[in-house]
Formats: sequence, structure tokens, C-alpha cells
Amino acid sequence: MWKLWRSVLFSLPAESAHRLVLWGAKVLSRLGVWGGQCLEIAPVELWGLRFSHPVGLAAGLDKNAEALGLWAHLGLAFVEVGTVTPRPQPGNPLPRLFRIPKDLALLNRLGFNNDGAIAVARRLEKRPSQLIIGINIGKNRDTPLEEAYKDYADAFRILRDLGDFFVINVSSPNTPNLRKLQAREALIPIVEALQNQNPYGKPLLLKISPDLTDEEIDALGEMAQAIGIAGWVAGNTTTQVEYPHLGPGGVSGAPLRPFRRRLVQRLRPFGIPIIGVGGILSARDMHECLEDGASLVELYTGLVYKGPPLIRELLNSLRTP
Ligand SMILES: Cc1cc2nc3c(=O)[nH]c(=O)nc-3n(C[C@H](O)[C@H](O)[C@H](O)COP(=O)(O)O)c2cc1C
Repeated sequence: MWKLWRSVLFSLPAESAHRLVLWGAKVLSRLGVWGGQCLEIAPVELWGLRFSHPVGLAAGLDKNAEALGLWAHLGLAFVEVGTVTPRPQPGNPLPRLFRIPKDLALLNRLGFNNDGAIAVARRLEKRPSQLIIGINIGKNRDTPLEEAYKDYADAFRILRDLGDFFVINVSSPNTPNLRKLQAREALIPIVEALQNQNPYGKPLLLKISPDLTDEEIDALGEMAQAIGIAGWVAGNTTTQVEYPHLGPGGVSGAPLRPFRRRLVQRLRPFGIPIIGVGGILSARDMHECLEDGASLVELYTGLVYKGPPLIRELLNSLRTP
């Protein structure tokens, strides 16, 4: 069945296929077709939350929380929605998402297209109860870097009661200069602005770039505990792999695997929980990532190429000791 779906979806431009999937999921949700599954396969306790197993959905696939019923139905333990910015924005001009099937990769330069925090909050009020929800927040494109902390704080204030954990995204390559927010002087005001309005102590995670140098990773690691970072999402797409005929953008999928491995291995000694993401396309990749030091993993490009059978493969491999 997936093979048939895949040939239909791959006959469409990448972003149209993505929209079709989300639209189908919304229609089926309204018809009440999804029956949520909550399989306790390999439970993970983190941040006071109990994940039924370590496999979740990466940010960007369901930016606006439109298809939560589908992810629960497919058996994922958690979903990271977003990136959500305080105000809605259209993102970059089309085309901005490309498949590179020979490398099992994607290149995107979407630029945080999203419905904005208020619209996403409305949808999250009806979230499926069995799914753990992380909310990835970012700044609007037209907000100057010096005022970025206000955007993160605004998005957090609107969404803070509706997510189980929050991810501060300072690592997308598609919002100009965003990755400069990974520097200490830029990051501290952002984290402080969130901590100041975090009465229930929601876990704040940091999503970082695989393109950081070793020194930059170490500097973040040393700072993280002091400023109350509860976890890492390691990591975002890379600009070190290029496809000049497609133009600029972040690359995900199989080419990201060595970058993700290095990032997770480098972060491990700092003792803060890690969500490993990047180039997980098989059970082997997932187990390698968990052995490298991640407590949870997330999927995006693997789902585009391998579909729901990938989730089944991962969950089955967690069942068999
Ligand atoms: C089309 C696309 C859109 C993405 N959008 C976001 C986003 O809005 N926020 C974010 O933090 N990461 C975003 N990502 C990055 C993914 O969450 C993930 O970090 C990256 O794709 C690596 O995982 P993968 O190799 O399994 O795809 C996006 C990735 C893709 C392919």
C-alpha cells in the first residue's frame, strides 16, 4: 500500500505532496477515522514525562499541528510541532523543497512558513491526549536579531500551557542570521526571557546546528546547565552538503547521518538529555543514535522516503531484545 502511495506522492512536486498528506490527515481526523494507539514498547522517562517508546516526529513536518491524529495513529510517541513564530508568515518563494532520491535526501529553504502562534494554539487545544507534544518556537523573519528574545517570549507565552516541552530553534539555515543566536551573548537573553515566564517549569530544549565547530558545541554544553537548558535536539539541517543546481537550503536525510553522530557524541559528556535527529532511515540508524547517547529520536526525511513502514520497523526492533 505504501509503495502505491509513494508513487502517487513522488509524482507531485515535493511541497504539493506534503500538503496533500496533511490535507488527507485533516479530512480523516474530522471523519473520526483515527484510533489512537498508545503502545508501551520501550518506555522512556524524561522531564517528568513518560514516552511510550523513543520514536517521535521532527519539527517541520506538521508545523501547524494539523495532523496530530495521524501521528498518534501511526504509533509515534511524540510530535514536535513548529517551528511556530509569534506572527504568521508565508516563508520563502516557491519552489523551496526538493527531493534528491539517489541520496535519500531533501533540500529545503522553506523559511518558517507557519500559521503563527495563535492559530497553532487553537489547534492544540484539541490535541490527542495520548500524544506527547513538543513545541518548537522561532522568530519572525523581519524581527531584528537584537529583538529576537521578544519573539521567542511572545510565542512561548501564547503556547506554554499547550505543550509538554519546548524547543528553542536557533539553528535553521533558512532564516537569515538565525544561527548567530547560538552564540552565548545572544542566547542568554532568549533563555532568560522564557524562564521568566515559565511558572510550571516546562522543559526548555535547544535545537542546534550540525554545522557548529567542536569549540562552539563545547561552549554551548558548558553554558547549558547554568542557564537551565533541559535537553538538546541534535540537530537541524546542514549547509555543508550542497546541491548547486537546486540553490541554497538545508540538507536532511542520509547525508546528515555522520553530522548527527558527531553532534550527539560531542554533546553526551555534558549529561543533558538528547533527542537525536538527522538521517535516521532504518532501525540500525536509530540504535546507533541511541548508543551514541540520545534518549529519544525523531524522524522527518526517513518518513518521506520510507513512509509508515519505517515506524513499524523501528518499533519492531525495539520490541525484540
Ligand atoms: C522540509 C523540512 C522542513 C523543516 N522545518 C523545520 C522547522 O520548521 N523547524 C525545525 O526546527 N526544523 C525543521 N526541519 C529540520 C528537521 O526537524 C530535522 O532536524 C532535519 O530534517 C533532520 O532530520 P531528518 O534527516 O530525519 O530529516 C525541517 C526539515 C525539512 C526536511
